[in-house]
Amino acid sequence: MGDMKTADKILGLLEESRGKAISGERIAEVLGISRAAVWKHMKALKEEGYEISSVSNKGYELMDNGDVFSAKSVIDELADGENGYKGKIKIEAEVRDEVTSTNALLKDMAAAGIDEGRVLIAKRQTEGRGRLGRNFFSPKNGIYLSMLLRPDMDFREAMLLTTIAAVAVVEAVREVTGKDTGIKWVNDVYLDGKKICGILTEAVTDVENGRLSYAVVGIGINITKPSDENFPEELRDIAGFVYDEEEPPKGVMSKLSAAIVKNYFKYYEKLPEHDFMESYKKYQTLLNKEIFVITPDGSKKAKVLGVDDEARLLVKYEDGKSEALFTGEVSVREAGSEKENMPRFKNC
Ligand code: BTN
Repeated sequence: MGDMKTADKILGLLEESRGKAISGERIAEVLGISRAAVWKHMKALKEEGYEISSVSNKGYELMDNGDVFSAKSVIDELADGENGYKGKIKIEAEVRDEVTSTNALLKDMAAAGIDEGRVLIAKRQTEGRGRLGRNFFSPKNGIYLSMLLRPDMDFREAMLLTTIAAVAVVEAVREVTGKDTGIKWVNDVYLDGKKICGILTEAVTDVENGRLSYAVVGIGINITKPSDENFPEELRDIAGFVYDEEEPPKGVMSKLSAAIVKNYFKYYEKLPEHDFMESYKKYQTLLNKEIFVITPDGSKKAKVLGVDDEARLLVKYEDGKSEALFTGEVSVREAGSEKENMPRFKNC
């Protein structure tokens, strides 16, 4: 859909009048657009999967089981009195149908000067970015969410921004779906042994003083499984999904997006306190496991002892030596699983 803003407003009006039809004429009047434009947007929304009934002479109605995932639905969840966001940063959310990469777009917006707290969510990405220059497969069955931050922080602390995201995702998934996920060091979120979420933080540093100018934290979550023909062969054994069902329960996309944002800013606003670190340590999936530590010089077997306060992975090698591994320098593979020798593909 070309003009998501108008489509979003239409969804808002349909939501407000749930239970009764709203006429095309009324929508056209409120939004200051032609009835033909209303019709065009309705058609596009239906194609996108929204269940909207059109009854001649009465207008349009969003059906009860029609799910909405829009800026308004996310903001409404954030404003929810009991479970909502209570911090000080002004959160502005935008939900787009399809973008190249939410991280790339938000970085452009950041360079143009927009404020901290902007959240850009897409239902699909055509050029989703992963860590280490990889692609991130981003079909319509996921949430692709980026947040703009302007922390007063040395660039060496930037990895904390990713750590917070991993904790925020685990807690949001539990809150919204009741499912327990874990963090595979460094920052992948796993459900039942498969990766359901990847996180990529991209930051710009002021070279004069080494402080961050801004950072964009991007989170991609697989919600439901794409159809087999749209699901790359090489991801099938590795990628997992929050739901096995074809359609997620109603409201999940908005609720999960809002819960992630809320949890994220809750911890972020309390920096330099690190009270998310205990949870980060607790949610680790590799604790006490045998792994292979892979460096450019080769791989070495080790046992995972834990994670320290700097989010380094503490390991003990077979020769009895211990080491604290920094993120970015090494990658790890669980020993004794078929994943051990698996080459690294797109999303993993
Ligand atoms: C990884 O696992 O390699 C990290 C993947 C990060 C993907 C997210 S989706 C939202 C944001 N926009 C992007 O282009 N990438 C991140």
